[in-house]
Amino acid sequence: MRILLGVSGGIAAYKAVLLLRLLREDGHAVRVIPTASALRFVGAPTFEALSGEPVTDEVFEDVAHVPHVALGQGADLVVVAPATADLLARAATGRADDLLTSTLLTARCPVVMAPAMHTEMWEHPATRANVATLRERGVTVIEPESGRLTGADTGPGRLPEPEEIARAALAAAASAGPSTPGDGPPGDLSGRTVVVSAGGTREPIDPVRFIGNRSSGRQGAALAEAARARGAAVTLVAANLDDAVCGAARAAGVVVVPVETTAELRDAVRAGASEADVVVMAAAVADFRPADVPDAKIKKVPGEGPAPLTLVENPDVLAELAHDRLRPGQLVVGFAAETGDADGSVLEHGRRKALRKGADLLAVNAVGAGRGFGAPTNAVTVLDGRGEVVTEAAGSKREVADAIWDAVTKTLPGI
Ligand code: CTP
Repeated sequence: MRILLGVSGGIAAYKAVLLLRLLREDGHAVRVIPTASALRFVGAPTFEALSGEPVTDEVFEDVAHVPHVALGQGADLVVVAPATADLLARAATGRADDLLTSTLLTARCPVVMAPAMHTEMWEHPATRANVATLRERGVTVIEPESGRLTGADTGPGRLPEPEEIARAALAAAASAGPSTPGDGPPGDLSGRTVVVSAGGTREPIDPVRFIGNRSSGRQGAALAEAARARGAAVTLVAANLDDAVCGAARAAGVVVVPVETTAELRDAVRAGASEADVVVMAAAVADFRPADVPDAKIKKVPGEGPAPLTLVENPDVLAELAHDRLRPGQLVVGFAAETGDADGSVLEHGRRKALRKGADLLAVNAVGAGRGFGAPTNAVTVLDGRGEVVTEAAGSKREVADAIWDAVTKTLPGI
């Protein structure tokens, strides 16, 4: 594989030397593209000797070969390690003021960035926004580790070990980067486009509080990864998922769209659904949201008791999708998290929900008392739109995901 190793100017640039060795030992051709500041930490001769290729940060060298365009176009994988706050900002805004940023604009292969910086810089809203922008565009941004930084201070911002960066980067390349129809591995969902929602929505009460739920999003993420492995182009609409869950999905070649509220989730799912063969609503969506959300934190007035919270109903995203059918022939799959109560068993509630929602398939699972939410395993009964049992599955969330895709592929027209 032809790998470009971007190095920006932080103390962790010395670890890029070890990463370069690892990638070379794994049999890859690696060209190092440092920034000018990176060359103040590690000299060009070190990178040249270990890569066997010329090293420059300049766009005005070797102009006859147009390197600022040609390098990116010819790469199978771009890894930037360390990626400083400044490099993330320049990449997110599309700057092209040196060889590395120009290359990032022309590369169409998977791009993996391993940030390293002080905790304050990593946590700054500007950096968070730049990371979110890059991830939305399909860049894999690896979470920095927590630990000892340059000085005596510790916290998140440390560059992961070179072995870990190499593993994440090669995994991203193996999954062929951002998901587009037809580019997935061969499988029974090849050429299909899939949207999966996962996680739990959060409805703000004020700028610091929200109404949320216990969904971890792992079943939805497993569905997205399984669909990708079976050849589909997959978008995961991720409602408040852990960074690690999102990172694993991205590494598997899934496009992850982070959302917070039901309104954001609805917009993202519907945007993807207009192109999708299958939409799976695995997210736990809040049925209600606070009617008014003040700009300032609600203060407790001693002796006055709690201020009443007025809720309004959210749209039912699944029922709308089932009704609207944003693409002809589209299959709509819902989930039903049930506990069972005096009005009926888990399955009876599931049957009623299948009829009420109008989805083609409904995966019913029992939640509560250590089952479903956050647990590593799951058990579902898949019903059709009339409430008849199609299949039952139990096991790891990935096994359950595959059983659901088996049911989908049997139902999907043209498969
Ligand atoms: N769902 C949705 N929009 C909502 C509520 C739920 O799209 N506002 C979807 C979920 O993603 C899931 C299915 O509907 O696929 C069932 O969700 P669940 O919470 O079990 O059902 P509810 O409709 O909320 O019904 P109830 O609370 O009465 O069980």
